[in-house]
Amino acid sequence: MYDQFSRDYDRFVNWDARLGVEMPFLVGQLSGLSEKDGRPVRVLDAACGTGQHIIALTEAGFRGAGADLSAGMTSLARANAADRGLDIPFRTAAFHELTAAFGKAAFDVLLCLGNSLPHVLTRKGLLAALRDFRAVLRPGGKLILQNRNFDRVLAEHQRWMAPQTYRKGRDTWVFHRFYDFDPDGRLTFNIVRLYSHDEAGFDQRVTSTRLWPLTRVELDPLLKKAGFVDIIHFGDMTGGVFDPEESPNLIITARTP
Ligand SMILES: C[S@@+](CC[C@H](N)C(=O)[O-])C[C@H]1O[C@@H](n2cnc3c(N)ncnc32)[C@H](O)[C@@H]1O
Repeated sequence: MYDQFSRDYDRFVNWDARLGVEMPFLVGQLSGLSEKDGRPVRVLDAACGTGQHIIALTEAGFRGAGADLSAGMTSLARANAADRGLDIPFRTAAFHELTAAFGKAAFDVLLCLGNSLPHVLTRKGLLAALRDFRAVLRPGGKLILQNRNFDRVLAEHQRWMAPQTYRKGRDTWVFHRFYDFDPDGRLTFNIVRLYSHDEAGFDQRVTSTRLWPLTRVELDPLLKKAGFVDIIHFGDMTGGVFDPEESPNLIITARTP
């Protein structure tokens, strides 16, 4: 799905607005995590997509690297970094392949943002991912996860997400996302992409993938089993308190011992 969607991703996300909200929280969470005086904090974005978070963090003085399962995404991330004159290592790798790609204890911080971890559909797969997250972090390193608040999505049966529109010249894109609530407890995540040139009708394309709507009570024990400690929850990327009934997100920070 994401190889296909990668070409539209930077149209779908309003990066100026999103980074404007998220960067202060991320920079606050990352600051002071350098092991050695003077060395920049080393940050890996484990589902980097088109690289926009790690590019912004590199420009803010952190030492960034990115990985993503989708070769389409990592290729766009490289191009976006090159456009900004930045040399950031990007690897095409799944969550459980990060140590193989970058080595053990290579980072002070690991980010997994934008509801990426729920793409892992099994407990075994999730544990392998979290164990690899731990191994690629140094002792005392920090994990930051950003997922949707699936407690609320499930309780309210929130099927539809707000549509996003992008216009450039005579071209218009509309992205509309919705979930199917599958009988096995997983979700099918659908993205309808409408494209119009010169307002001459819409070309329509639908892509879908499955998600595990991970809740806090499912995730916390797996984080502990993978060896993480000091687990903290927030409800959004401004550091708001997590409320299962109200919060838009489940943000988790945790440490390696
Ligand atoms: C919704 S995008 C989020 C991208 C970016 N982190 C953001 O916040 O906008 C989800 C990303 O997760 C990646 N992904 C899905 N499953 C993955 C896996 N098992 N390992 C690594 N990346 C994965 C996809 O390729 C995609 O780039």
